[in-house]
Amino acid sequence: MDREDRVALDRRVIEWRRAIHRRPELGFQEHETQALIERELDALGIEHRRAAQTGVVGVIRGALAGRTVALRADMDALPISERTGLPFASETPNAMHACGHDAHVAMLLGAATLLQARRAELHGNVVLLFQPAEEGPGGAEPMIAEGALENPRVDCAAMLHVDVRLPTGTIGVTPGPVNASADEFTLRIVGRGGHGAYPHTGVDAIVAASAVVGALQSIVSREIDPLASAVVTIGTIAGGYRNNALADEVVMTGTLRAHDPAIRDSFAARVERIASSVAEGYGARAELEMRQGYPPVVNDAEIACGFAPILARDAGVAVVEAAPTMGGEDFAFIALAVPALQMRLGIRNEGIGAIRSGHSAEFILDEAALAHGVDALVAFVGALGSEQLPIA
Ligand code: NI
Repeated sequence: MDREDRVALDRRVIEWRRAIHRRPELGFQEHETQALIERELDALGIEHRRAAQTGVVGVIRGALAGRTVALRADMDALPISERTGLPFASETPNAMHACGHDAHVAMLLGAATLLQARRAELHGNVVLLFQPAEEGPGGAEPMIAEGALENPRVDCAAMLHVDVRLPTGTIGVTPGPVNASADEFTLRIVGRGGHGAYPHTGVDAIVAASAVVGALQSIVSREIDPLASAVVTIGTIAGGYRNNALADEVVMTGTLRAHDPAIRDSFAARVERIASSVAEGYGARAELEMRQGYPPVVNDAEIACGFAPILARDAGVAVVEAAPTMGGEDFAFIALAVPALQMRLGIRNEGIGAIRSGHSAEFILDEAALAHGVDALVAFVGALGSEQLPIA
């Protein structure tokens, strides 16, 4: 591909991104996005199949022996009404690509274009994972269950996520944990109702719940190693009937996050113990219901350390060790199945207002970064497919 073709491809990537941005679709509703991906893969002559309802698995078969490398892009938007004022802003009310997944799909199509063109010199295979529903309920698990990492069997995987903390021209590569586990819970505090003027005749669930909320803060502050990362957040609380009635029940929901799987596994017992014993102290009762979310994303340390200098050389970007986040990401399931790397693509540009974090209605990304993302994906295939880098 000569210089002129590359400029044209970079323009195509931006066009794909804008087309997807205009028509955002929520998890497992990505029908138009799926159709766009299939149309482009057909045009490139890349074989593909569907997975997880609205997902697409493409396969590029290199002419030379090597590993099978998977590249993953999530496809879904968020239930947010866009307020960027961009000319290609969302045309769908209460749906917006506010997390950059439109750019992720466009960059993977760009990388697929380059890799398909160099099939004759390509070592191994490339599996393109266009994955639905990352924002929930999760598309990675069903894609794996439907064999997305088989035929051909995937040896390692990478993904990019846009990151407004990093300026354009920078890519974050960090060994070890980069995203947190994200489990949800519902906590019910059950007391006994009565007249608000005669509190001694009932058990006030609101007073008991208040004490429970306070006590739960001691999980992170007193029970977990201060050098580890953990979050206990109560996001909602509801209970009671009116000003002069005792609440017989309070219901809370929250999120529990950690980088260390052992801390993650310990959360349920800690919340249960504190909530139950505090509630009991007030004559009330606590009922905990846990819902497993995504595991932490843990980057393969050997791949991260080995690939960082190759990325700097091949993609012409500054490679930095970006700080991990407490956000959740279902690439975690892929990273549990095969050695994997999440790269953080710098998109920050104060000059165009690309300063807001993802999930904001005013989220803007610097499209100049997309070419770097394409290069990064291609570089990953080059380094891992050719067995230039070892995998433990
Ligand atoms: Ni995202």
